[in-house]
Amino acid sequence: MTTIAVLGAGKIGEALLSGLLHGGWSTADLMFTERYPQRCEELTARHGVRAVSVPDAAATADVLVVAVKPQDIEPLLGELSPVLKPGALVVSLCAGLPTKLFERELPEGTPVVRVMPNTPMLVGEAMSAISAGAHARPEHLELVEGLLGSVGKVLRVPESQQDAVTALSGSGPAYFFFLVEAMIDAGILLGLPRAVAAQLIIQSAVGAATMLADSGEHPVTLREAVTSPAGTTIMAVRELERHGVRAALLAAIEAARDRSEELGRAHD
Ligand SMILES: NC(=O)c1ccc[n+]([C@@H]2O[C@H](COP(=O)([O-])OP(=O)(O)OC[C@H]3O[C@@H](n4cnc5c(N)ncnc54)[C@H](OP(=O)(O)O)[C@@H]3O)[C@@H](O)[C@H]2O)c1
Repeated sequence: MTTIAVLGAGKIGEALLSGLLHGGWSTADLMFTERYPQRCEELTARHGVRAVSVPDAAATADVLVVAVKPQDIEPLLGELSPVLKPGALVVSLCAGLPTKLFERELPEGTPVVRVMPNTPMLVGEAMSAISAGAHARPEHLELVEGLLGSVGKVLRVPESQQDAVTALSGSGPAYFFFLVEAMIDAGILLGLPRAVAAQLIIQSAVGAATMLADSGEHPVTLREAVTSPAGTTIMAVRELERHGVRAALLAAIEAARDRSEELGRAHD
């Protein structure tokens, strides 16, 4: 049986632990590390998973999932490197950190898989993109796909595409939240109570997302189906085009990609 240690059980680390438990993993095969005893006690009380020290995790776990903030990575790898079990797989959830950073700091030959998850992991609906480091083999990628499959969907991409992935799905939930927020404001503008506007838009977002995911139809086809001649929707679409919403999204996502590249260069 594979044992998994989550190093840094904050928002994403805890979501992964919770998803693995829901996916049928046993508490006996999971462990985590955290800095503060109070947080350890809280997490153990909530999930029944044991807290361990970094050396204990390194000595016993087959897979070490690194889920600390990128700025905390160097001290953690310094602590991990001398005690890492030979053959252990290191899985990084850290945004923007290249696999070569881990390979440089950890013992020669350590297999590393880089993951870009997103926050819907909290509700078991993550989109995660995974990339193999220099020493990761197909069985390592399969293992990571199995783990992350418990908390959403998983796609393999070359590591060179991870900055684009960060801009699209890593930051993606924020763009949808921004759109929903603006649409609720539009409801307020039209005189609806905020709670009514929020319910209308949130359920429309859930319904539209389900149609996109389940129908297999192109978004254009789905939009055309609700855009009748001289109807209400085409009037709104004309305004969206007039205000350059499509161009704004292209520019916004390109800017996020550029920022991800810049953050990655800081660790070169
Ligand atoms: N949240 C997102 O949307 C998202 C999306 C994609 C990827 N990620 C990546 O996921 C990682 C975690 O993000 P997050 O939002 O979950 O951050 P977070 O809530 O701050 O979680 C990180 C946790 O790790 C703990 N920690 C730091 N250094 C440690 C060490 N040496 N040993 C043990 N525990 C340690 C932190 O403790 P303290 O509180 O004491 O510092 C904190 O509880 C980041 O690298 C981020 O780039 C996040």
